[in-house]
Amino acid sequence: MIVSAIKENFPGERMVALTPAAAAGLVKLGLEVHIQPGAGVAAGFTDAAYEKAGVHLSVDRTELLKQADILVQVHALGSHPEVQGPDLAAVKRGIHIIAFADPLTDKPAMQLLSQCGATLLAMELVPRITRAQSMDALSSMASLAGYKAVLIAAEKLGKIFPMMITAAGTITPAKVFVIGAGVAGLQAIATARRLGGQVSAFDVRPAVKEQVQSLGARFIELPMQAAEAQTPAGYARQQTAEEQQRQRELMAHSVSEADIVISTAAVPGKKAPVLISEDMVAAMEAGSIIVDLAAVRGGNCALTRGDEIVTYHDVTILGPTNLTATLPIHASQMYANNIANVLKHLIKNGQCQLDMQDQITREMLVMRDGVIINQRVRELLELPVLEVPQAVAGVG
Ligand code: NAI
Repeated sequence: MIVSAIKENFPGERMVALTPAAAAGLVKLGLEVHIQPGAGVAAGFTDAAYEKAGVHLSVDRTELLKQADILVQVHALGSHPEVQGPDLAAVKRGIHIIAFADPLTDKPAMQLLSQCGATLLAMELVPRITRAQSMDALSSMASLAGYKAVLIAAEKLGKIFPMMITAAGTITPAKVFVIGAGVAGLQAIATARRLGGQVSAFDVRPAVKEQVQSLGARFIELPMQAAEAQTPAGYARQQTAEEQQRQRELMAHSVSEADIVISTAAVPGKKAPVLISEDMVAAMEAGSIIVDLAAVRGGNCALTRGDEIVTYHDVTILGPTNLTATLPIHASQMYANNIANVLKHLIKNGQCQLDMQDQITREMLVMRDGVIINQRVRELLELPVLEVPQAVAGVG
């Protein structure tokens, strides 16, 4: 069975879905691994390193796509149809794609992949359960993004982070306010603390209070219906309009006091909640910085524009949508390990087994041979409920 990776052509992407080390693990599993020459160069992985790992270099991209049984990618085919048109035309029907695919919001991509007769396992849908931790690419990417968000804020801020007592006077530490203390938020807190910032954080899930405090940050508590703020899967549920209003009012103070706001509030599959209004931004000190990691879902700040720098009342608002592409070496290393662990989970006796009794496979599987079987994606595409039970399918 052939597992292939190609050079990512999603605009701005520098990551690669397979590193030589991850590929070597797949070769050991008995898989034939193919890669397009140059696919890893932007992430620091040479063709020679892949060859040494037992990977076949396949010069013709079209041929590589035609031959692949399983294609591993960072951005699934269909996520940027303008540049991926020829790739979509080249893949063989029944190809298995394992990648980030934005299945709960990217309707056109789901339709395109369905028309190709693809089987899609979406990396976004790896359940956040202990057994699947080694496959959880969303967490891998969010950690890196949380770290980098603080660095870009520090670079833009005309102040230093740590307190300094000098002969020229005492400098007070930068105040950092982190909204959303999930994976990205906790890493942002840890990074800001390491730089010497005075950090506070807020999250609707009270369960994160201890984690925030253990990183040396202050947890800002709001009087909300805390116990119900978390779903059984450990994610935030969508707030009611009344809760949102109450939160906005209570947060205004923390935002106005901060030199830097890092916002990461997210509810899976939904638009990002808008938590920072124009008025809150206007009340911040001139020179303050907001890094809105939720930009890819519309942003937590009303003024955020994806990948643009917005200035409002002398406050700079950054909405980077792909920070991991700025850390391609470690981002690829982590992502490729997650991908390899998914493959190790699926491959049994040299065959890719899609066992619908298994929670990880069941939740990741968006479509099989072009038939969309994930109920949430069917709802997005306004398709009727699928009646036929889907048991086990394989390729190999
Ligand atoms: P997560 O689900 O682990 O954390 C999100 C946190 O937001 C949760 O703790 C949740 O309770 C909290 N939250 C939800 N609604 C809230 C509200 N109204 N007020 C305060 N907190 C609220 O998500 P993760 O993995 O940390 O990702 C966070 C964001 O970062 C996502 O929007 C994700 O798309 C984005 N991201 C951006 C990247 C970039 O390069 N721009 C890269 C990776 C992730």
